[in-house]
Amino acid sequence: MVKIYIGMSADLLHPGHLNIINEARKILEKEGGGEIIVGLLTDKAIASYKRLPYMTFEQRKTVVENVKGISKVVTQETLDYVPNLLKIKPDYVLHGDDWKNGVQAKTRERIIETMKEWGGKVIDIPYTEGISSSKLNKILKEVGTTPEIRGKRLRRLLESKDIVTVCEAHNGLSGLIVENIFVNENGRKREFDAIWISSLTQATAQGKPDIGYLDTTSRMSTLNDILEVTTKPIIYDGDNGGPQEHFIFTVKTLERLGVSAIIIEDKIGLKKNSLFGTDVEQFQDTPEDFALKIHAGKQAQVSDNFMIIARIESLILEQGLDDAIKRAKIYLEAGADGIMIHSRKDTFDEIKEFAKIYNTLPNKKPLVVVPSSYPDVTEKELAENGINIVIYANQLLRSAYPAMVKTAESILANHRCKEASDNYCMKIKDILTLIPYGGQS
Ligand code: SPV
Ligand code: MG
Repeated sequence: MVKIYIGMSADLLHPGHLNIINEARKILEKEGGGEIIVGLLTDKAIASYKRLPYMTFEQRKTVVENVKGISKVVTQETLDYVPNLLKIKPDYVLHGDDWKNGVQAKTRERIIETMKEWGGKVIDIPYTEGISSSKLNKILKEVGTTPEIRGKRLRRLLESKDIVTVCEAHNGLSGLIVENIFVNENGRKREFDAIWISSLTQATAQGKPDIGYLDTTSRMSTLNDILEVTTKPIIYDGDNGGPQEHFIFTVKTLERLGVSAIIIEDKIGLKKNSLFGTDVEQFQDTPEDFALKIHAGKQAQVSDNFMIIARIESLILEQGLDDAIKRAKIYLEAGADGIMIHSRKDTFDEIKEFAKIYNTLPNKKPLVVVPSSYPDVTEKELAENGINIVIYANQLLRSAYPAMVKTAESILANHRCKEASDNYCMKIKDILTLIPYGGQS
């Protein structure tokens, strides 16, 4: 019996995919029957070379199973087809011929080589013109998302990626940057996975110090501006969560809005930014009281998806590694869905030490870091040391401010705006069209 293998993500199933399946059916007809097996890529396999799919594995599986002509769907755990091919030994592998170039070219070569072992062949199906996944992706982004879909996305990313990358946004415009910016790296698209709603940059953008002065209503207003123009999951900086009685309302509000996680820090009293360290007076909560707050938050949430991440300030306040680990255990016990360990040292060393011990805890949950004071550390090094989420907490605002100062000074110094316009500004035409649907055709 002839066996045809087709590997796919099947997130946005379009006529191009159906064409490949139809070609497979024609081959089976000619050869007197057989089966079409779809190797459905897991979230992890897809996230290894492009963005996480919109639909979960189970949803994608349901779609593919119901496509006419498909005999069965098997799980493909890696972008590399070979492990599945060795098990199934198909006669043919079919794929759109666009994989001859770009990131999948090497995969294709390996498949051809492997299939030679049992006389199997790769058939490249001419690419279907007029339809492209990237166009559909763009349209999907414009359509937006729902709180339900967005909320779940952080957990899915944590399951699929070695390290989840998060960048700060403090208004709609910076939210759009985090949503859309990407770089090409060896044919792969690299983009941020999620958005950090920082108390520091939000306060600073509103001309206020980071002392918890902005009330929840004001924080939610900015959050809403960002939610409106983005689809990526959101992690919200909740400072110390406020009194327990307030915290449970914040959890409910954020969950309802589709925020994926809140991070709360184990401090009490007037809020001061952690990076001041012991230069200012700031106090750590008792681990027992903070555990009660975590527990109350977990009781308040409606679904299982929302995450409450406990942020330990022991290293910031020079209380030592043992205190940090002791607190991690207590917070995990209280139901924390993750731990953020913060440091203001200029190397990764103390976090690395913490991570080494933390990762031996039997009930450990994702570990989060904010490398503002130790920026040399790479994502690879973080991932190798068991860090699951890295937050770039303030760099967009820190770069925007000097750029604006330079422009303002140039206008003053030159008594006109030509020098600033020519040297430091984007074109008027570009800013008019930066945000779509401004009335332009
Ligand atoms: C923030 O971005 O507001 C944070 C991280 O909480 S830090 O500023 O380092 O405290
Ligand atoms: Mg903060």
